[in-house]
Amino acid sequence: MNPLTPLVVDTIAGVRTELRSLSAGPDRKAGDSGAATARVVLVPTMGALHDGHLALVERATSVGDVVVVSIFVNPLQFGQGEDLDRYPRSIEADVAKLAGLGVSVVFAPTAAEMYPHGRSATTVHSGDIGTRFEGRARRGHFDGVLTVVAKLLSIMHPQSVVFGQKDAQQVFLVKRMIADLDFPVSVEVVDTVREPDGLALSSRNVFLDANERRAARTLSRALEAAESSADRGVDAVLAAAQSVLTADTGVDLDYFSLVDPATFLPVDEGFHGRALVLVAALVGETRLIDNQAIYVG
Ligand code: PAJ
Repeated sequence: MNPLTPLVVDTIAGVRTELRSLSAGPDRKAGDSGAATARVVLVPTMGALHDGHLALVERATSVGDVVVVSIFVNPLQFGQGEDLDRYPRSIEADVAKLAGLGVSVVFAPTAAEMYPHGRSATTVHSGDIGTRFEGRARRGHFDGVLTVVAKLLSIMHPQSVVFGQKDAQQVFLVKRMIADLDFPVSVEVVDTVREPDGLALSSRNVFLDANERRAARTLSRALEAAESSADRGVDAVLAAAQSVLTADTGVDLDYFSLVDPATFLPVDEGFHGRALVLVAALVGETRLIDNQAIYVG
């Protein structure tokens, strides 16, 4: 199925009805038996869609029959004083970007539809890892992310859900929640999509002025420096990245760390093997994060 324009649905009951009829309907990939139900794939987003999101959509169409993109700026994952109010919202442009890409449904609920009682009394707790890195700077952020992802999975029952490696800690915690709470869904992870100069695409990049945009490049440059020192061990990786990060006055570093992808805990200096380099910084008022998988020799 390759619908030209996705159907936009803003209620939970509406999206359930729509997905039920789409997954039972006859309009399916060639070769599917008429009796089997179609595979529903969910791409959760907060909108302001860019090519990173569209790469997730492309993956979704390759693994499933009915692709649903959710667009919801989830208040639960924004803390006091964060950018909930100024977060870019562009639902019409977003739906236009999805036209022709094989998306059947856009689920774009209001906050009142998702949280009719105001703040949820029942939330998902993201545990120790949820308090580190992004979770240390943004208290409660990952509880908010996991709670909304759990709700989206309960509302739509997709067989697969697609996330971007750009938010590596989010991927780690979502996978952990899915395992811990036995959600019957498989997780697809898509590599980070970057600008030609290396900056990871982000909905927040629109906030950067020309000088900040230049400074923002420091994050991916630090990751590149880390990667090129990877065969010389953990200390060399940290030193290489540090020298890039301290040279630039336009970025206010929050954290830089090398973690074990299996535990998301910092590695010690004798570590060898696959590791994730994490970086987060404020560029002007805008918080940016990035990461890179490396092999420490
Ligand atoms: P949002 O920031 O809109 O991102 C939606 C999805 O797009 C996430 O899985 C994110 O990792 C992915 N993504 C963003 N930039 C990317 C890039 N440059 N390359 C590849 N993928 C990229 O992440 C969220 O929304 C929210 O926390 C959400 C999961 C929707 C829950 O509210």
